[in-house]
Amino acid sequence: MEAISKNFFLYLSNNKLLDRFAKRFGKRFGADKIVGGETFSQAIPLIQQLNHEGLQVTVDHLGEFVNCEAEARDRAQECIRCIQSIANHQLNSEVSLKLTSLGLDINRELVIENMETILEEAEKRGVTVTIDMEDSSRCEATLEIYKELKDKYENLGTVVQSYLYRSDKDLDELDACKPYLRLVKGAYKESGKVAFPDKESVDKNLKHLIKKNLLNGHYTAIASHDDAIVDYTKKLVEEHDIPNERFEFQMLYGMRNQMQKDLLKEGYNVRVYMPYGEDWYGYFMRRLAERPANIAFAIKGIFCK
Ligand code: FDA
Repeated sequence: MEAISKNFFLYLSNNKLLDRFAKRFGKRFGADKIVGGETFSQAIPLIQQLNHEGLQVTVDHLGEFVNCEAEARDRAQECIRCIQSIANHQLNSEVSLKLTSLGLDINRELVIENMETILEEAEKRGVTVTIDMEDSSRCEATLEIYKELKDKYENLGTVVQSYLYRSDKDLDELDACKPYLRLVKGAYKESGKVAFPDKESVDKNLKHLIKKNLLNGHYTAIASHDDAIVDYTKKLVEEHDIPNERFEFQMLYGMRNQMQKDLLKEGYNVRVYMPYGEDWYGYFMRRLAERPANIAFAIKGIFCK
């Protein structure tokens, strides 16, 4: 049953017609519980509140799969405005972005040019940028671009997904550029040819990648809401005397709020991933796919807006 609902929502996440319908009729189906607003200005007070509680943030301007050059350039400008706002409001926040929103599906030169403009500004303002990882067909290109840019820009991170068979080898190949990595299970619908089909193997591989990246000496963001993964990390860092400055836990905005606070109290660094923007549909559907319990607040949202 769980697998059926997961596949159903992952299928819906790519449905262009429903995406247009959701945007046009403006119903947010409870998405406001997990999205920081439609504009960055709306997200600012929420970020300030999280910072006040001791939580760090990474913001993501929602949107992906852009196939028009002008739109990709507009999105790069939005990232730049966001970086400037973070600095001007002295927010404790990084920026996360998706390469397909900056032209990855159009051409490589465009996405590199957009990234360089963003990274110049980010470096000037002392803001770190993390490249999210999208579906497996974009993984190779994303990691190649990451390696190329990481040579020039220190303040750059990316994501590795434990459901992909390739990820262990990717960690080996990233080692030389001293990566700043966020490790996740992976959120897209993938075939058994490229990804572990069962949760047990995905979880096991995530633990393996966490251990490997931390023992390789690289800063690691453990991005999971799973108690088993969090507990594993806590034991691992204790066993290997790894100080809290070398890693952080990351969770999505609106998910496991109490756990975020508990980890802070225990002295760990915790960062909240806060998406904002009008393109909330695909992000929201992927979250429904991950956790059927989220459906309850989606249904409530339909009737209570
Ligand atoms: P998973 O969904 O496997 O759940 C395991 C268990 O954890 C559940 O059985 C439950 O007990 C508990 N749990 C999970 N969610 C809960 C909740 N909301 N409340 C209570 N208990 C809960 N993916 C990707 O492909 N590319 C990317 O760039 C990113 N980026 C990213 C950033 C950040 C900060 C996070 C947290 C996640 C991502 N992801 C991602 C998504 C990631 O790949 C993954 O799909 C989700 O985090 C879900 O996997 P989990 O490890 O959180 O737990």
